[in-house]
Amino acid sequence: MGRPHQARAPWQGSIALLVAAIALVFAAAPATAQSMAPPGASSCSGCHGSNASGGAVPALQGQEPGGIVAAMQAFRTGRREATVMDRIARGFTDEETHAIAAWVSQQR
Ligand code: HEC
Repeated sequence: MGRPHQARAPWQGSIALLVAAIALVFAAAPATAQSMAPPGASSCSGCHGSNASGGAVPALQGQEPGGIVAAMQAFRTGRREATVMDRIARGFTDEETHAIAAWVSQQR
């Protein structure tokens, strides 16, 4: 009755290999990008999108690092009004702010 049980199709092995290879590529790529960003810098892109994506929050990439540092210091001291950046800016030291500004300004 019915068809004889087929244990394994000949192509199943190569599909499994392909899936494993794709998984490896996806696992490795973000890890490499993350390791290049200074601490805290990757959190900025959650709100600050790219120039292409537009949106209400201004993009940081392409801005002068000095301008980003100055804005962060103004947010931290309350010289510049903010909704969220005052709190975020207070979370970083001057050193961290410089490293973040240098990194985010170079993102594309
Ligand atoms: C929770 C969302 C959010 C996150 C996360 C965030 N920002 Fe902002 N950022 C804003 C908003 C909103 C403004 C506009 C000012 C305000 O309302 O606080 C802003 C403004 C700025 C500005 C002024 C930009 C300009 O062109 O006027 C700079 C510089 C800046 N952010 C840097 C950063 C950096 C650096 C980080 C990461 C450490 C960061 N932001 C993370 C929401 C965010």
